[in-house]
Amino acid sequence: MFKIGNIEIENNVVLAPMAGVCNSAFRRIIKEMGCSLVYAEMVSDKGLIYDSKKTKNMLYFEECERPIAQQIFGSDKETFVKAAKMVEEIMHPDIIDINMGCPVPKVAIKAQAGAALLKNPDKIYDIVSSVVKAVSVPVTVKIRSGWDNNSVNAVEVAKVCEKAGASAICVHGRTRSQGYSGFVDLNIIKKVKENVNIPVIGNGDVTDIQSAEKMLSYTGCDAIMIGRGVLGNPWLMREIITYLNTGALISKPSYSERIEMCFHHMDYLLKIKNERVAVLEMRSHISWYLKGLPGAQRIKNEIFKVREVEDIKKILFNYLKELENKV
Ligand SMILES: Cc1cc2nc3c(=O)[nH]c(=O)nc-3n(C[C@H](O)[C@H](O)[C@H](O)COP(=O)(O)O)c2cc1C
Repeated sequence: MFKIGNIEIENNVVLAPMAGVCNSAFRRIIKEMGCSLVYAEMVSDKGLIYDSKKTKNMLYFEECERPIAQQIFGSDKETFVKAAKMVEEIMHPDIIDINMGCPVPKVAIKAQAGAALLKNPDKIYDIVSSVVKAVSVPVTVKIRSGWDNNSVNAVEVAKVCEKAGASAICVHGRTRSQGYSGFVDLNIIKKVKENVNIPVIGNGDVTDIQSAEKMLSYTGCDAIMIGRGVLGNPWLMREIITYLNTGALISKPSYSERIEMCFHHMDYLLKIKNERVAVLEMRSHISWYLKGLPGAQRIKNEIFKVREVEDIKKILFNYLKELENKV
């Protein structure tokens, strides 16, 4: 267990915010796997302020997802403060997170938000201290190791965030210019942990028990955050949490459990999105859930051709029967 401000987090495995993925449906599934804290996908400060319906809809969550952190991205103190207050009022999340890691050009270059903020520690202090003052919930900050190889400044940034009143810091051990290439740098996460007193959440390349253990033991971080590792494999959460708590190894999901998860995910998704959007989102999730299964490519091709949930269900149901007949 660890604490972020006054919020008790039951175990030390956290879901990473992932735009286009970590909506309420996916978070509920991850929560069912025992995850102690879920980060919702980022929302734009300006989107909230200019009353974008799409942005506001992104704040939807179910009580069973608590504790939940809502992430905001932006570039100016004023709009960050307004947006944080709106998030607090509309959603009452347990934690508000500030994005200082997003590398995509639309965010980090065009909007000078996300990882671009890493280039300006004074501005970071201003933003974090103002948001902390403006809301009553704990504020966390998610950063990368730096902008590029010549400006790795996560330690300095983490100290600034701590001084500004942040309640925890999450470090993805890659620079902005690395994107998702190369490997995570555990040394920078370790250095951050050695230099601040607030909880540090280590992030990057945790994909199995070994990498989870290594992140925790090598860096000394208080918790690990998992992103891509749970795409198509939410069971990884349960596997890692069980192992860290008890040392026990649990079996991998069967073929049928993986296909049943597609149905489960689709049911949750249909509660929050219309059929057209749910079908589009499920195409990616189904590809991930079926990865490595015999004949999966053929099924994926079939699913990409249909537009209705009933058709997807039929394809999956037939596939399930086909696989059951094989074993
Ligand atoms: C599809 C996708 C969307 C992401 N969206 C966000 C986001 O909204 N906010 C954020 O801070 N990081 C975002 N990230 C970065 C992840 O939170 C995480 O830092 C990164 O994937 C490294 O962790 P991993 O190796 O466990 O995936 C995203 C990553 C992916 C793959």
